[in-house]
Amino acid sequence: MLDKIENLKTELEKAKTLIKDNESLEEFRLKYLSRKGLFSSLFEEFKELPGSEKGKVGKILNETKNLAQNIYDTFSQSLNKNKSVSDEDYSLPGITYNIGSKHLITQALEDITEIFKKIGFSVYEGNEIEDEFHNFDALNTPDYHPSRDMQDTFYLKDEFDKKYLLRTHTTPGQIHLMENYKPPIRAIFPGKVFRNEAISARALGMFHQIDGLFVDKNVTFTDLKGTMDFFAKEFFGKDLKTRLRPSYFPFTEPSAEMDVECYLCKSKGCRICKYTGWLEILGCGMVDPNVFEAVNIDPEEYSGFAFGIGLERTLMIRHNIPDIRMFYENDIRFLKQF
Ligand code: DAH
Repeated sequence: MLDKIENLKTELEKAKTLIKDNESLEEFRLKYLSRKGLFSSLFEEFKELPGSEKGKVGKILNETKNLAQNIYDTFSQSLNKNKSVSDEDYSLPGITYNIGSKHLITQALEDITEIFKKIGFSVYEGNEIEDEFHNFDALNTPDYHPSRDMQDTFYLKDEFDKKYLLRTHTTPGQIHLMENYKPPIRAIFPGKVFRNEAISARALGMFHQIDGLFVDKNVTFTDLKGTMDFFAKEFFGKDLKTRLRPSYFPFTEPSAEMDVECYLCKSKGCRICKYTGWLEILGCGMVDPNVFEAVNIDPEEYSGFAFGIGLERTLMIRHNIPDIRMFYENDIRFLKQF
């Protein structure tokens, strides 16, 4: 038996040179290492040996088997390491990755921006930190106006004889635009606004608005109505009716609010619309002459309209979202739906 094993050793050295690819490697494995291979039958034979020979033969047999196994492992590794892409099966399904998506707020800001761009509005970014002049005075909001109250406004340090604050609306963008550009002006200015209010399902201290301004010669209320109607139909869908209701804002005269027909009950009256059949989506109006005067634009020569849309509110209506806090909790189950 010892001779047989010695012969096998030299045979293995030769067999090694025949391994060229995975196919010849497999032949090697079948011939020597598989259950029906040469080593299996040698180990069967080994069992029959008298006990006195087992020690010596066993040692050499194991060494030779390990040699064969090493040959196999080495070739297997090097052949598969060099495996080229062309050996891959292209019909296998690819690896799928979870791709993130834009937050609902970002999507809606982009949607609304696109809608207004279509009708010639440009986009302007205002400042989150404002002074009292831009946030209030120039917008015809005298200092006894309730929205100035410490309860509503986050005031910052006074500096250079000015009171600074976190803007309570995006409307001060109007003032910056009219200070820096000559009419015709046609722009929207989206952004974050801040209000010092108790946190609840409807209030979070911060939310987004999109204000807009159109100033030119002979701008009329009809232009305002047409523009607001266009926006509502593009954003909520063509078959929802809209209506304008008289309202009050210090910086517009006359002022109005726009409602859309309740999407849920189609104006029959339900819990969402508090049984009115309508949902308020924006405030708007004709620019008050006092605002023009604050920025040295002659109200006899120019007229204009302005509007402000509350983003979270509008989205809560469109998607039936019951709590404003859901926008900012980043719960993946919520975010995934949009
Ligand atoms: N700034 C108002 C608010 O925060 C919204 C608004 C109403 C803006 C009418 C306007 C406007 O530009 O014309 O409630």
